[in-house]
Amino acid sequence: MTNDLEGRIEIIRGDITQQSTDAIVNAANESLLGGGGVDGAIHRATGRELLAECRTIGGCPTGQARITKGHQLAARFVIHTVGPIWRGGNSNEAELLASCYQNCLILAREHDLETIAFPAISTGVYGFPIEKATAIAVTKAMDFLKKTPEMKKIVFVCFSGEDLAIYLKTLEAYGNSR
Ligand code: APR
Repeated sequence: MTNDLEGRIEIIRGDITQQSTDAIVNAANESLLGGGGVDGAIHRATGRELLAECRTIGGCPTGQARITKGHQLAARFVIHTVGPIWRGGNSNEAELLASCYQNCLILAREHDLETIAFPAISTGVYGFPIEKATAIAVTKAMDFLKKTPEMKKIVFVCFSGEDLAIYLKTLEAYGNSR
């Protein structure tokens, strides 16, 4: 891995609601009014204030991102993004997932944030195959870090050991291919 990326990407197993990065990313749905999975965990951890703030946003189209305060979270901000539902791979799912990562990173920089934590967007309820999703996540993150020295750290927070192993393998492969 080239030096300018050293230590700027972290892959851990854990609960994204516990991360103290400047922002954590929520894998939301287009209503932004909460749900299960990581969306449910973040809303449970932040209480009604987050939901009240989300109501003022009026939803978010798939592939885009919206920012709110972190409320009681250690993270100062929550960046909500809506991943694509996997429909077999011929409905622009890869491009939409890539734009989720890109738009979250752009939004973080627009707010001068230096660290951000991502869950494995779309790989739960939305059914996106984890290997394909991880390749998109790692590629978008590494390419952004190369172009954006102000972004100090991107953390991928895996909820299972299996996902952790896939992220580590993918990062390794990325490092050897560039
Ligand atoms: N911390 C980190 N990762 C988590 C956590 C958590 N607390 N809880 C779940 N995950 C992981 C899941 O294991 C999965 O790997 O987040 C990944 C994304 O899964 P989902 O939360 O199901 O999100 P997604 O597949 O994008 O589906 C979004 O689900 O919860 C609803 O409202 C949400 O409708 C939206 C849909």
